[in-house]
Amino acid sequence: MNEIVAKRRIAKDVYRISVKAPHIAARRKAGQFVIVVAHEGGERIPLTILSSDAEKGTIDLVFLVVGGSTLELSRLEEGQSIPHVAGPLGKPTDIEAVGTVVVVGGGVGTAAACPIAAASAEAGNNVISIIGARSSDLVILEEEFKGFSERLIVCTDDGSYGRRGFVTEALAELIESGQQIDEVVAVGPLVMMSAVAETTRPHRIKTVVSLNPIMVDGTGMCGGCRVSVGGKTYFACVDGPEFDGHQVDFGELASRLGAYADFEKTSLERIREVHACLLDDALKDKPSQPS
Ligand SMILES: Cc1cc2nc3c(=O)[nH]c(=O)nc-3n(C[C@H](O)[C@H](O)[C@H](O)COP(=O)(O)OP(=O)(O)OC[C@H]3O[C@@H](n4cnc5c(N)ncnc54)[C@H](O)[C@@H]3O)c2cc1C
Ligand code: FES
Repeated sequence: MNEIVAKRRIAKDVYRISVKAPHIAARRKAGQFVIVVAHEGGERIPLTILSSDAEKGTIDLVFLVVGGSTLELSRLEEGQSIPHVAGPLGKPTDIEAVGTVVVVGGGVGTAAACPIAAASAEAGNNVISIIGARSSDLVILEEEFKGFSERLIVCTDDGSYGRRGFVTEALAELIESGQQIDEVVAVGPLVMMSAVAETTRPHRIKTVVSLNPIMVDGTGMCGGCRVSVGGKTYFACVDGPEFDGHQVDFGELASRLGAYADFEKTSLERIREVHACLLDDALKDKPSQPS
């Protein structure tokens, strides 16, 4: 059992929790994730490890409430335990000192981008971070990014905070300004990562994206997280989740994710009925896809 030692709501429907998981805390590296099960017999939820404290034996996770399992997770309080936390899973980010790295985070993908940006800075890179959200109340981890970024650009779609517009527009401007960029890393909704890859492609800037296909076992056994990259098939849970953004078949991945939309809608409607009296604003207004 993995006790929740701290819990904080950091934005609308977004929670940050510190969870006791000493073995994972001792081994995890940037880019890796865990699979958690919020209650016995519940669904498996892949979540990126934001940070860890090996001395305290804790890992920090950030999650957006998008459906039944994340809602159940959000209902666990400090002192309660998560029955299963498996990890660290996935390949760590390939971090090298390359020069200037632009890290782009969109929505809750900003949480997965954060450890990559931190590790890139620690390796000696000049990190420029661009983080985006739909509106000011959804901007997360700004202070953390300020701590290790040479420059931080915050974007909101509606202009309620920072720069108005998409993160890709800020990235395009940065490239056009003549800024030397040696690598771009993007984590966020599929459409955003695809747009980042198309922005950097003509400039031949190495671009890494962190994919979020449906995962079940997280160990390469079920095939659920199959993705096509450069014409070859990979399992994101063991071969990724990070891949060359210029090689990813985003169209195929989007249609595979879309295949579950009806099922998720029905499941969410059932949860709404069952929990009608318990729901806070979390699911009354279902947010867009998580990263
Ligand atoms: C490697 C990886 C890292 C992730 N890291 C984070 C993170 O740090 N924070 C965060 O908020 N979210 C993260 N996600 C997404 C998160 O796993 C899903 O939001 C969560 O599983 C949704 O479950 P649900 O039952 O609440 O929602 P549902 O209603 O079941 O689904 C809502 C949406 O969540 C996604 N999803 C559902 N089940 C899965 C699954 N088993 N695997 C992957 N995606 C799923 C789908 O896109 C779906 O449309 C990550 C996903 C992956 C693959
Ligand atoms: S989640 Fe089953 S193979 Fe990757």
